Amino acid sequence: MTRRLFTEPEHRARALLARWGRELGCIVEQDRIGNLFVRRPGRSAGPALQFGSHLDTVVDGGAYDGAYGVTGGLCALERFVERGIETQRPMELAAWAGEEGSRFPVGCLGSAVYVGWESFDEMLQLRDDHGVTLGEALRGPCGLLEGVPIREGFPVPAAYAELHIEQGPVLERAGISLGVVTAIAGMYRYTVRVVGEAGHAGTVPMAVRRDAFCGAAEFALAVEAMARELGDCVATIGWVDVAPNQTNIVPGSVTCRVDARSTDEARLLTIDRRLPAIAREVGERRGLRIEVERFEDRRPTPLDERLEAVLRTTLGELGLAHMDLPSGAVHDAMCLAALAPAAMLFVPSAAGASHVGHEHTDPADLERGVDAFTGWLLAIDRAL
Ligand code: HGY
Ligand code: MN
Ligand code: MN
Repeated sequence: MTRRLFTEPEHRARALLARWGRELGCIVEQDRIGNLFVRRPGRSAGPALQFGSHLDTVVDGGAYDGAYGVTGGLCALERFVERGIETQRPMELAAWAGEEGSRFPVGCLGSAVYVGWESFDEMLQLRDDHGVTLGEALRGPCGLLEGVPIREGFPVPAAYAELHIEQGPVLERAGISLGVVTAIAGMYRYTVRVVGEAGHAGTVPMAVRRDAFCGAAEFALAVEAMARELGDCVATIGWVDVAPNQTNIVPGSVTCRVDARSTDEARLLTIDRRLPAIAREVGERRGLRIEVERFEDRRPTPLDERLEAVLRTTLGELGLAHMDLPSGAVHDAMCLAALAPAAMLFVPSAAGASHVGHEHTDPADLERGVDAFTGWLLAIDRAL
């Protein structure tokens, strides 16, 4: 699956969700950053109980990350309609735009704008790997949906719930099929620019080279060693751009991104301090200029204990085994938690695999997750 924000497959997924929402008799709206909403009115017109996830994917990703939470939420709405259930509050399914940051390099883009963490105008300036700005893509044929009203503002929900695959091995290893998520790991992301000197691969003597790729490689290995030594954190360099990227030219410059995560903010602050020190050390030794710039700092997010308690009670009533666990992956719930009580429900990932094409969750686990999620939403609606 490759559904990057404002590309044809992602646009098609949003258009399909809008059609299904209309067929359910729901109100379908979008906002100016491309978040899509399917709302079913309740008895009161107060703030909605919001729930959902994202439809965009990483490159060559799986079928469940994000899409399961959106379609599972749609199934819950469908059950409300089929059973004629009238809820207290409006129930609003959200498909958040560009959660993966797989085209424009900011994660949880749509929900971060929604909660005011990112400025809409600044996000319009983001460029993808081909230099296309988010603003151009937004206004292009795969941007906002035709014929779907654009709602102004970002209404604060009464609460937010997200159904998602675990993307890790904990539930499967425990033999338990439902997870009450207690916290979401914080995530700091950096752009690292390594500047050396391009030259002829055949004539520049090794002793005088300022090879930007070898400098970046040494920086990357030092980042890996730091994460291993710190513990309780992860650090990844998954995106690298080598220039001029020619077999017979010594690389003059390399740009890469560091993705660092931990549920412990002290570790993220340590990493934040250490990266420039690593850059200085490698740069001085190799005669390179290495600049580290943080472009994202999402803090570790404890989820709402009241909503978790409602979830545990619901699962108990349904006779469904469950366990508490933190999330190493980030989610839109991390942003919504800044606006309203937010919590998450996980289903298992086979072998913990995710962000890969073979990502899988057994159909029985998917179904059980939707049953539990539907019950949870109704219990939250009663409890609010
Ligand atoms: O990177 C993440 O944790 C999420 O899947 N976007
Ligand atoms: Mn996701
Ligand atoms: Mn993901």
